[in-house]
Amino acid sequence: MPKADRGTALAHQAEPGTPAERAEASWQYAPAPESRDVVSIKPEYGLFIAGEFRPAANGRTFGTINPATEEPLAQVAEAGQQDVDAAVAAAREAYEQVWRPMPGSERAKYLYRIARQLQERAREFAVLESLDNGKPIRETRDVDIPLTAAHFFYYAGWADKLEYAGFGPDPRPLGVAGQVIPWNFPLLMAAWKLAPALAAGNTCVLKPAETTPLTALLLAEVCQQAGLPPGVVNIITGAGDTGAALVSHPGVNKIAFTGSTEVGKEIARAVAGTGKKLTLELGGKAANIVFDDAPIEQAVEGIVNGIFFNQGHVCCAGSRLLVQESVADTVIERLHRRLTTLRLGDPLDKNTDIGAINSSQQLAKIGELARAGEAEGAHRWSPPCQLPDKGFWFPPTVFTGVSQSHRIAREEIFGPVLSVLTFRTPDEAVTKANNTPYGLSAGIWTDKGSRILWLTRQLRAGVVWANTYNRFDPASPFGGYQESGYGREGGRHGLAAYLDA
Ligand code: NAI
Ligand code: MG
Repeated sequence: MPKADRGTALAHQAEPGTPAERAEASWQYAPAPESRDVVSIKPEYGLFIAGEFRPAANGRTFGTINPATEEPLAQVAEAGQQDVDAAVAAAREAYEQVWRPMPGSERAKYLYRIARQLQERAREFAVLESLDNGKPIRETRDVDIPLTAAHFFYYAGWADKLEYAGFGPDPRPLGVAGQVIPWNFPLLMAAWKLAPALAAGNTCVLKPAETTPLTALLLAEVCQQAGLPPGVVNIITGAGDTGAALVSHPGVNKIAFTGSTEVGKEIARAVAGTGKKLTLELGGKAANIVFDDAPIEQAVEGIVNGIFFNQGHVCCAGSRLLVQESVADTVIERLHRRLTTLRLGDPLDKNTDIGAINSSQQLAKIGELARAGEAEGAHRWSPPCQLPDKGFWFPPTVFTGVSQSHRIAREEIFGPVLSVLTFRTPDEAVTKANNTPYGLSAGIWTDKGSRILWLTRQLRAGVVWANTYNRFDPASPFGGYQESGYGREGGRHGLAAYLDA
């Protein structure tokens, strides 16, 4: 990698050198690290079952690390079959005895309390999420944590209005929900799962991802603090085996999963014929489509946000840029220029734009696909940027000269890698955008309202953003077509997944 230049990568510190070098350095950002004193990480965490923390029955634990430094953060209990049984039993009892009989207006009070606690402890949650996941504090502080609280507030509002939600006069909860979530938005995904389930009167057993369990366990503390009746929310940590045990548990009425398409298919097979309700939110390979009449500077910001937000660890990431041929050179040139100003490095630094890759496995996967891109003949470009010595890092990367058959145009990379394709006509844009086994999201950049309306009807994607990208709101449903899964989360639609309606 070439030496970091002005404005990029970890080059914040003014170092001694020639006057020219010092002048250069004076234009760099000074470090602005968020203090990690606001969180106290315990050496060990138990499973949260029936309102209390306890070790796994077999005493097993696993470690979670900070992917930016590879520093071990904590040991976490690994739930086995006995623990899954105990969590499901606790959820069942709480469902029968407390939560189902409770009036919706009372359930709402707990959800509001959780939401307010999340706001009060927002800084603590933001720092902990950055540490355990590797994402920049700017994102956890401004996106993950506020949206998490907003989700609880939003569904608290539904808890006493279920009969007006459009699912008949007396919609019933399903029972015990088993929920398995990924590592890319650890706390936010917990909220997407828990808030609608609880509002609808279900109780939950949630399994966070093995690389990012800590904020879910802090949320368990918030549940205690909010006085949530024991067993209404249970949080069990572990890896795929724990998830599989939860999914196949006969005491569970509903499974909600967010993660890879591969595991999603496995879960669909495990659940088939059991009568359990299932929602799957899986991968994506979204097209972000830029027309020649688009406001180019705005579109460039949208492209950057679309693929480099959260290091590209986003199921709805705009990972395929489709740009109209007549403006392709301009767009690419401006994109390169913009990427040269992104700062990669310490996730706790408030100036950081690009944080760490979540795990060495994910880094290996991104590297493998990027190499495949080169081998298949696409042109690879990254801004000059120095990667830290420790931890898992991948520079923002743009591939041009990509064709539809390339692996980097078809497979979910789940990293900071953009594949650029071009098109000439709107019809060609639609054909290329829809040429994917996925169908989660898409973006459109154009000045023409009529074109936006026409395109949204042509694109087979659950969410279509126009002249913006990666915007989330708890009131707005989110979900996919085809291999991106089925069912919707968020909004009134999100309630349907947890009601017998
Ligand atoms: P994954 O799908 O294996 O993990 C997601 C969650 O499922 C984790 O909590 C995991 O412990 C659990 N799990 C794993 N195997 C399971 C099983 N057999 N039964 C029940 N639960 C199980 O995803 P992974 O391995 O972390 O990432 C691999 C790829 O998946 C990524 O490179 C990315 O392409 C994609 N992915 C997509 C996500 C999305 O939001 N669409 C999120 C995470 C990963
Ligand atoms: Mg971790």
